[in-house]
Amino acid sequence: MAKAPGNFNQDIHVSDYRSRYDGSKVTSSSLISIEGRITESLNGKWNFTVDPYETFLRANWYSAPEYTADGRQLPVDFDFPNMDFINVPSCWNMERPELFYYENMGIYYRTFRYEKDDKDERLFLCFEGVSYRAYVFLNGKYIAMHDGASTPFDVEITNLVQRDNTLLVAVDASRNDLRVPMSNTDWFNYGGIYRDVFLLRCPKVFIKDWFVRLQPGTSFKKIAVDFEMDGIDSGSAVFEIPELGIHKEIAFENKRGSIIFEADVDLWSPENPKLYDVRLSACNDELRDRIGFREFKVVGNSIFLNGKERFLKGVSVHEDHYILGKTTNESVIRDTIRLVKDELNGCFIRVAHYPHTRAFARLADEMGIMLWEEIPVYWAISFASEKTYSDAENQIAELIRRDKNRASVVVWSVGNENADTDDRFKFMSSLASFVHSVDPTRAVSAACLINEVDLKIEDRLAGCLDIIGINEYYGWYKPDFTELGRILENSNPDKPVIITEFGADARSGFHGTKNMLWCEEFQEELYKKQVKEISSCRYIKGMTPWILYDFRAARRQNTYQEGFNRKGLVDEDRKTKKLAFYVLSKFYSTIK
Ligand code: GCU
Repeated sequence: MAKAPGNFNQDIHVSDYRSRYDGSKVTSSSLISIEGRITESLNGKWNFTVDPYETFLRANWYSAPEYTADGRQLPVDFDFPNMDFINVPSCWNMERPELFYYENMGIYYRTFRYEKDDKDERLFLCFEGVSYRAYVFLNGKYIAMHDGASTPFDVEITNLVQRDNTLLVAVDASRNDLRVPMSNTDWFNYGGIYRDVFLLRCPKVFIKDWFVRLQPGTSFKKIAVDFEMDGIDSGSAVFEIPELGIHKEIAFENKRGSIIFEADVDLWSPENPKLYDVRLSACNDELRDRIGFREFKVVGNSIFLNGKERFLKGVSVHEDHYILGKTTNESVIRDTIRLVKDELNGCFIRVAHYPHTRAFARLADEMGIMLWEEIPVYWAISFASEKTYSDAENQIAELIRRDKNRASVVVWSVGNENADTDDRFKFMSSLASFVHSVDPTRAVSAACLINEVDLKIEDRLAGCLDIIGINEYYGWYKPDFTELGRILENSNPDKPVIITEFGADARSGFHGTKNMLWCEEFQEELYKKQVKEISSCRYIKGMTPWILYDFRAARRQNTYQEGFNRKGLVDEDRKTKKLAFYVLSKFYSTIK
């Protein structure tokens, strides 16, 4: 191999510096169930700096010496403990005005102290959401890399942690065409450690994962429990639902155990969001959760919840707040669910276009609303790329691992508005079969596009789905509204269709005639026409119009939009309802 030139300097002359970090990628298999566990928050003020030339990774800032071996100080280009503070969790775009459109690398630093409680305990560092890629360094050592802006990841630090620790996280918010989503979306690219960070102590042997649900096809009379152990191959566990007097011993082999047993449960539904305290204990570990039991099923063109046919009266929601960005909190989520349930008369929310925070499904369970959850396989993904596929599959695996015990989640969506090409069909049909294999208790769907040449609902992917989502903008992007009626007439799908998007932009407070673009009356009239057309179609069994709130979108820059997509039924202030809100609310009030 050629000898490096004498004047060679690693961080100036090496271009593929990122390949040094390709190892240590953490995926869904690293995730630990945290329900009922005590976590120790690392939220708060962290030191932060931008790093637009990625010098942190190029020059190994995380372990760069500040003194030579003989004690001479070195002029390093960083000073982590004295950099300005930023809040964790937060989006740097909203924390610092000068970073509003910043989409490169940000470096976070904090210290933390750790004292063992038990000599055999194991310690995990857990991130709920970092956008988009995170490189994690503990005490000068590179320990983990995670891809995916909206799903959690955990990394074991038992053998690395000290009493006093330094933690560095390099966060890369850049967009590129190999990622999921790719570089072009219609939502704002927020960056940062924007969800909770915490430490998790587990016993040497612990319950790593569990899945508790009503077993489909058992006339609502059987509960199924599966679980996975870590640190031990065989033994026995106990599953309890005290309110039902259920106490089941479950033997496990090769780290896994399962049981199906009779139970007479009060079924969960939006109208009766009944949750049971459940407990699984094994060795010295225990998981506790509040779980609802329900059956969501598709038969022919119909959708059933607990044996009762339903029309999914819904609306789409982004995880976007005009003050918080992509960071959210319990009161924001409660307000959203309450608005959909109590004022829009809805029972369903399309959680678009990526996994929202863990709390969303937990609150949906408690407050009673069904959810469609989705990964951002959005528009022109690199469908021919193996790496992109494994990123997408990992993101939905992490989402399912996180939310599979949530009764409110009834649909997993593998994507949105993807052109029907061979590469896309292979990519998304593989995702659909992966999801069916991991969770046979929920419907798999995707928001598909209409075949606009033959004017019909026709997409090869529909054959792999349980429910066909359809996005259509007749009356807005497609001004000839009459085409919608022809499309619905021309089509004869053998499974239920949900209209996952229709809508029009309207600037709140801008009034005019029903033919004047961007005004509320135009949006109101469009909703009246859409609702009339959709409600008369025999195979459409739900709708999630686009969208509940106006949301930030960098591509939307005309004088009505000003950086926001204005298809919301409610202004970005999350208070001011537009006229179309009442059209949908009235329609939903007529459906039981
Ligand atoms: C598309 C897309 C949305 C987008 C919407 C719009 O259907 O799925 O993400 O915001 O149209 O154009 O407003």
